[in-house]
Amino acid sequence: MSSRLFEQLTLGDLSLNNRIAMAPMTRGRAGESRVANELMAEYYYQRRSAGMIITEATVVSAQGNGWVGSPGIYTPEMVEGWRRVTHRLEPSGTPIFLQLWHCGRVSHSDFHAGALPVSASAVKLQGDHIHTPLGTKEYETPRPLGTDEILATVADYRLAALHAMEAGFSGIEVHSANGYLLNQFLDAKTNLRQDRYGGSLKNRYRLLGEVLAAVMEVWPANRVGVRLSPNGVFNDMGSRDYRELFLYVLEQLRPLGLGYLHIMDGLAFGFHGLGEPVTLAECRAGYDGLIMGNCGYSRGDAEERIGAGVAEMVSIGRPYITNPDLVERWQHGWPLAPYEDMSLWYTPGPAGYTDSPPYPG
Ligand SMILES: Cc1cc2nc3c(=O)[nH]c(=O)nc-3n(C[C@H](O)[C@H](O)[C@H](O)COP(=O)(O)O)c2cc1C
Repeated sequence: MSSRLFEQLTLGDLSLNNRIAMAPMTRGRAGESRVANELMAEYYYQRRSAGMIITEATVVSAQGNGWVGSPGIYTPEMVEGWRRVTHRLEPSGTPIFLQLWHCGRVSHSDFHAGALPVSASAVKLQGDHIHTPLGTKEYETPRPLGTDEILATVADYRLAALHAMEAGFSGIEVHSANGYLLNQFLDAKTNLRQDRYGGSLKNRYRLLGEVLAAVMEVWPANRVGVRLSPNGVFNDMGSRDYRELFLYVLEQLRPLGLGYLHIMDGLAFGFHGLGEPVTLAECRAGYDGLIMGNCGYSRGDAEERIGAGVAEMVSIGRPYITNPDLVERWQHGWPLAPYEDMSLWYTPGPAGYTDSPPYPG
């Protein structure tokens, strides 16, 4: 079957060799320093046949931390660390975008010398426990960010965007999905604010809008992507006006000329079940830029989305953990190595990280 998946694609002023992006995946290999290292450079290098790579979520400030061993981009050492990664990838010509992250309430005081994590409002994440540097703990009720602190957070994103440029990235992706800080401001469930950052859709979107304006002072719009998860329940998200909210957000993003919009339409990571899922077709109707679809796609699902014209490209996550040559495997119809085993997803060292050989292995 001829496939559009392996066709070239123009993303802004970049030319991608195929339409398969490696999805952002936290792998916790940066250690306590949160500085990207040679092992991480090897991991991304092995996956260079992807049309583009989106890095694991990378925190924009110490306040944004909430995951053991995840990398940052807020010190000179962190910039140097990431430069190793981009430098290693450079000869292959594969674009690599840095995903910018602030965990917000998906964090714990153990990460912040006893200070509470921050969020839009004092709404505690219900459910799972969190792994902190000091063990497995209950979530805490976060502290709402003050209005002045929001300005400082926007400035952190701007500086992180600048650092990403200095580190040699091709662009950045603003992580506004999966229940992290920017999602916490968007979602009515976690945003109970009564200032200009809460209440109406306009106000709940304000922080994301300000972050985008700030990072676009550094990067041209077509080197900036945004990730959204309209259907996701991950990290205890989902509010009744989810459809109205996300269609409103698309309307705001539409005129910005972003490089791409990264939409998790698939339900493989959980569904809040508050109504019918938002589809890529709805997103397409409200958005005329490049759409990257994601979540739980088989090769067939990916073909279907692109064939239907509701996405120009897809991102693939879990299969990339054990299939560094995913593009070649799909292209040639070779079988995929199993990727369901979660036991080595976040463990330190090369096991389950850089030790998966290309086909036939
Ligand atoms: C180990 C792991 C880490 C992840 N880390 C991130 C992350 O840092 N940022 C993000 O936006 N999504 C993250 N995700 C979600 C993936 O990007 C992707 O949306 C999800 O795995 C569904 O796509 P898939 O079915 O192709 O795996 C992660 C997923 C996995 C499995």
